Amino acid sequence: MKPISAPKTYRVKSFGCQMNVYDGERMGELLAERGITPAPEGEEADLVILNTCHIREKAAEKVYSDIGRLVAAGKENGKAPLIAVAGCVAQAEGEEIMARAPAVSIVVGPQAYHRLPEMLDKATKGERATDTDMPAIAKFDALPARRKRGPSAFLTVQEGCDKFCTYCVVPYTRGAEISRPWRHLLDEAQKLVEAGAKEITLLGQNVNAWRGEDDKGRPVGLGGLIRRLAGIDGLLRIRYTTSHPNDMDDDLIAAHGEVAKLMPYLHLPVQSGSDRVLKAMNRQHTAESYLRLIERFRAARPDIALSGDFIVGFPGETEAEFQDTLNIVDQVRYAACFSFKYSPRPGTPAAKMDGQIAPEVMDERLQRLQQRIGAHQYAFNQASVGKRCEVLVERPGRHAGQWLGKSPWLQSVWFESAAAIGEMVEVELAEAGPNSLKGLARQTVSV
Ligand code: 5AD
Ligand code: SF4
Repeated sequence: MKPISAPKTYRVKSFGCQMNVYDGERMGELLAERGITPAPEGEEADLVILNTCHIREKAAEKVYSDIGRLVAAGKENGKAPLIAVAGCVAQAEGEEIMARAPAVSIVVGPQAYHRLPEMLDKATKGERATDTDMPAIAKFDALPARRKRGPSAFLTVQEGCDKFCTYCVVPYTRGAEISRPWRHLLDEAQKLVEAGAKEITLLGQNVNAWRGEDDKGRPVGLGGLIRRLAGIDGLLRIRYTTSHPNDMDDDLIAAHGEVAKLMPYLHLPVQSGSDRVLKAMNRQHTAESYLRLIERFRAARPDIALSGDFIVGFPGETEAEFQDTLNIVDQVRYAACFSFKYSPRPGTPAAKMDGQIAPEVMDERLQRLQQRIGAHQYAFNQASVGKRCEVLVERPGRHAGQWLGKSPWLQSVWFESAAAIGEMVEVELAEAGPNSLKGLARQTVSV
C-alpha cells in the first residue's frame, strides 16, 4: 500500500448490539483527541471504520458488501477512504479479511481499539495493521474522557461471556467475562452526567454478572452499583442490558422495587420455551425456572415491562417444541422482543449438530412468532393508554413542534410541546399504536 496523508475526517458505522454503539462512540473520542472530526453529513470521510457484528451470518456478510461499496465509491470520486474493520468480525476473521479485502488497512478487535491511533500512524505510512489482542481492562484505562452526547448514554460495565451457549460466538469474539472496577464506573458515569446525560444504560453481554468492590472493599453486585449510581445528582434514569437468568440475585431484583431511578424494564432473553432445546443450547435454565424468576421481578415491581430474545429453528427443533416457545411468549406477555432465525456460526457446537432446520421452516416459524410477539406488544401499549408518565425528550418528531422520547417502559412516545431535548416531560399516554404511543404533554418536570 502507498503512504497517504493523515485522515482529517472519520465515520464509524456500527452494526449489531449496543456494546458496539458504545465502542463506536469511544473510537470517535480517541480520534477527536487527534483532531480527526466526524465527516459532515452527506460527505465521504477520509477514514471509515466498519464496527462489525458476528452474531449471525447476515451481519458478518454485510462487512464485505460494505467494503466493496466503499472501494467502488472511492474509484468513482477518485478519493479512496482509509478502511478499518473493527468489532467482532475483525476479532473472529481478521486474517481472512486481510486476505480477502486488500482495500482494508486496519483490522482491530473489540478489546484492542484503544491502540487505533498507533495503527493509524502505521496505515498512513502504507503498512497494514492488525490487532486482535484481548487486554480488556487496559483498553478502558487508555481511553480519553467522555464527550458531550445526547441525553441518553451507554456505559459498558461488563464485557465478555463464560456461558458458552452452543449457538453463540460471543465467548470467542468478546472473550471471558470481565467487570470494570467500581471507581472507574462511578467516574465515567459522573463525566457522562456532566456532559449532559440524563439517562444511563449500563451495558454488558452478561451485565448482571458484574461484580466488584465498593469504596470500602465490600463485595458488590449490579444492584449495589445501581443504588450507588442513583445517588448522582442530575442522573434521572438508569437501565441495564443484557442479563442472563442465572446471574440474577436478590439484591438486583429488590432494587427494582426500591430505586426510583431504576426504570421498570427488564431485557431477559430466554431463547426458547422448550426444555429440550434449552438443554441443547446449554442455557442451564428451564422454561419453568425462567418463569419463576419473572414472577419475582413482578412481585418487586408489578408494572415492570419485559423483553426477550428468541431463536427459532435451532437444530432439531420440532413443531411441538416451537409451540412451547409460542406458549412462553403468551405466559410472559412481553412488551417487546427480538427474534431471530438460527444461524450456524463457525466454531460453535450447534453448527455441527444433526437436524439443521430447512430455511422455509425457519421463515414460517419466525413469521408466526413475530405475529404473536407483535400482538403482545400492541396489547401492552394499549394497556398503557390513560397512564401518566415521564418522557425523556430525545429528538424532534416528524413534524414541527413534535418530540420523541421514551416512557419508563421504553416505549417510543411522541407528543407536541415546547420542550427541548434532554428535558423530562410529564405526558398522558393518549393513543397506542403497535410500535409507539401518542402522548399529551402536561408539564415539564425537570431540565
Ligand atoms: N443464530 C441466531 N441468533 C443468535 N443469537 C445469538 N447467536 C445466534 C445465532 N447463532 C441471538 C440470541 C441472542 C441475541 C443477541 O442474538 O437470541 O440473545
Ligand atoms: Fe451468547 Fe449465551 Fe453468552 Fe448470551 S449468554 S452472549 S447468548 S453465549
